[in-house]
Amino acid sequence: MAKLRLLLAGFGNVGRRFVEILADRKSYPGLSELEVAIVAVTTGQHGAWVNPAGLAPATILETYRTRGGFPDSRTTLDAVRTLDFDVLVELSPLSIAGRGEPAIAHVREALSRGRHVVSGNKGPVAWAYRELSTLARARGVRFLHEATVMDGAPVFNLQRHCLRGNTILRLEGILNSTSNMVLGAMERGLSLAAAVAKAQAMGIAEADPSADLEGWDAAVKLTALTNVLMDADIKPEQIWRQGIAQLTPQDLAVAQSRGRRIKMICEAFRTDAGIQGSVTVQELPLDHPFARAEGAGSVLRIHTDLLGRLIIAEDGPDLSTTAYGVISDLLALSECN
Ligand code: HSE
Repeated sequence: MAKLRLLLAGFGNVGRRFVEILADRKSYPGLSELEVAIVAVTTGQHGAWVNPAGLAPATILETYRTRGGFPDSRTTLDAVRTLDFDVLVELSPLSIAGRGEPAIAHVREALSRGRHVVSGNKGPVAWAYRELSTLARARGVRFLHEATVMDGAPVFNLQRHCLRGNTILRLEGILNSTSNMVLGAMERGLSLAAAVAKAQAMGIAEADPSADLEGWDAAVKLTALTNVLMDADIKPEQIWRQGIAQLTPQDLAVAQSRGRRIKMICEAFRTDAGIQGSVTVQELPLDHPFARAEGAGSVLRIHTDLLGRLIIAEDGPDLSTTAYGVISDLLALSECN
């Protein structure tokens, strides 16, 4: 089987973890079938590095660690337009203000050139899924994005492989790890700022954590899910949003004294006027399946017409589980390479 040549766009927490796993692949016997070579890595502010013969993962990590970046200055868009590669692995940071750009431009360019895309960046799925998936089909390539929602937990793959014939009627759950972790820490008496610092130390908060606290990240994920699983064509701005930034440890304590927990809940459902979605802060009884999500955990309940209701929960995700989402997409591409 030919090696997949990867152009890695973005070298943040998830990008580094992905390359660490590749560097340490002997520890993961299940990855023996994964034949990849990183022919370029590009970043927004830390330079780029290109080698058509492939960059050794350990050397990429060591260079970044010792130099704080890479030796070239090529932009991601230029690399996507001009280099020879098989798969764009788009792991640049989510931009809410940019409405998914510049990642959407990277993905559009790669697909237009007949290259596969594996995106861990949610922006292209939330703001441009219909356009990009149509383009991928027209060019005979794949646009995969398992890592964008619930890290590497199989959400999109679940529908693709196991829910054939079902119409998804409703989606609901907890999709933002940072806010769930912050709420749990505040229940234990930590201030909001200390709880956010904890999420940042774990590497799970967005570059600007207000995107987590104000429900933007959750709205982006709910939109991505809705566009893919419910064949909608909505934008994150259409999701009604409520955040947790105004809550105090006292609010959490009062809810607990009533035997309830405060959670950030995403919901999307079909109406005669189209799909409606919201991110709201709700008090749930302790025996509610969403009240059991601890720490950075997340949970999704999928309502279908044929299979009834299905719950998938992710317990204790970290950067490895997100990196696994990227790896599972690459393995899917390897199978059809
Ligand atoms: N900031 C995101 C979260 C990272 O907390 O859920 C994973 O998408």
